[in-house]
Amino acid sequence: GLPERVTIYEVGARDGLQNEKNVVPVEVKVEFLDRLAGAGLAVLEATSFVHPKWVPQLADAADLLDRLDRRDGVDYPVLVPNERGLDRALDAGVQHIAIFASATETFARKNLNRTLDEQFAMFSPVVKRARGEGLRVRAYVSMAFGDPWEGAVAPAQVAAVGRRLIDMGCWQFSLGDTIGTGTPGHAEAVIDACVAAGLPVDVLAVHFHDTYGQALANTLAALRRGVTTVDASAGGLGGCPYAESATGNLATEDLVWMLDGLGIAHGADLDKLVETSTWMAERLGRPSPSRVVRALAG
Ligand code: HMG
Ligand code: MG
Repeated sequence: GLPERVTIYEVGARDGLQNEKNVVPVEVKVEFLDRLAGAGLAVLEATSFVHPKWVPQLADAADLLDRLDRRDGVDYPVLVPNERGLDRALDAGVQHIAIFASATETFARKNLNRTLDEQFAMFSPVVKRARGEGLRVRAYVSMAFGDPWEGAVAPAQVAAVGRRLIDMGCWQFSLGDTIGTGTPGHAEAVIDACVAAGLPVDVLAVHFHDTYGQALANTLAALRRGVTTVDASAGGLGGCPYAESATGNLATEDLVWMLDGLGIAHGADLDKLVETSTWMAERLGRPSPSRVVRALAG
C-alpha cells in the first residue's frame, strides 16, 4: 500500500544553493525561504554551519537566520558537522539540526576530512550536546547507493551506519543517493536492509538526486515500502560540491505532481511552488530542470 500523507523535507535552500557557482545574495535566500513557507512547506532546511572555506556558498548562515522571519509551524533545520558548527547553530537559535554521515570511507574523507570511524567520533558529542539543549537531530547517510570512487555500496553497510546514528540519538536518517545512480529495486534493497537491521521504517527518509532520472521512480518504491518523509528541492536545484557527478535533487514540484496523482496528502501549493521556482530560476539565470515547473510555468 501507499501512505495517506507524506512529509516533504525541502532542501532547496541548502542542498540547492550550496552547489551554485556564484554565491546567491542573502536577501534572495531569505525571500526564497519565505516563498517556500508561503507555498505551504512546513520543513525547510535553511543552510549549513559547515566550514565557510569548504562551502563558501553558505558562509552567510548566521546572517541568513538573523534576517529570516521564522514562522510558527515551520521547521528550519540546518546542517551541522561538528561542535564548532553546533556552537554557531545554537547562537543562531536553531531548534533542529542535521548531521551528515558517509556510508563510504572515501566520501567520509572527501566531505568531512575524517575516516568512516572518525566521523562518528565527530558527531557523537554534537548529538549529545544538541539533545541536551533540547534540539532535534536528524541524520543523513550519504553515498547510500553508489559512490563515485567505490562503486555500488552494500545495503548492509548503509544500514550499519544508519543504525549507529539512531543509536547515537538521531530521530531519523535520510538515505542519500548523492550521485543519483540508484534505481527502484536498489531503493527497496536498501530499505529492506535497514528494516532487517532492526530499524523501524518510520525512522527512514529518502533523499534522491535526479542525475539519472530515477528520483521519482525511486521515491515511489520507497513509499510502497512505507517511507513517509521525502527530501526534495524546489525547482530541482542541488548537488554536492564534494561529489562532482552529483546534480539536482528530486524536484519538489515533480514530487507534488506525483503525490497529487496518487491522492497522498502533503500540504504544499503546487502553483506557488512553480511561481517560486520560476522566480528563483530568473535569479540564477537558467531554467529550472524540473519537468513539472517547465510544463506549468506560464
Ligand atoms: P577540518 O578541516 O577537518 O576541520 O574540516 P577541523 O576540525 O580540523 O578544524 C579546522 C579549523 O576550522 C578550526 O579553526 C575550526 O575552528 C574551523 P582553527 O582552530 O584552525 O582556527 N572549523 C569551523 N569553522 C566554522 N564552522 C565550522 C567549523 N568546523 C571547523 N563548522 C569539516 C572538517 C567537517 C569542518 C569540513 O570537512 C566541512 O566543513 N565539511 C562540510 C562539507 C559539506 O558541507 N558538504 C556538503 C554537505 S553534505 C551533502 O550535500 C550530502 C547530503 O545532501 C545528502 C546526500 O545527498 O547524500 C546531505
Ligand atoms: Mg544531497
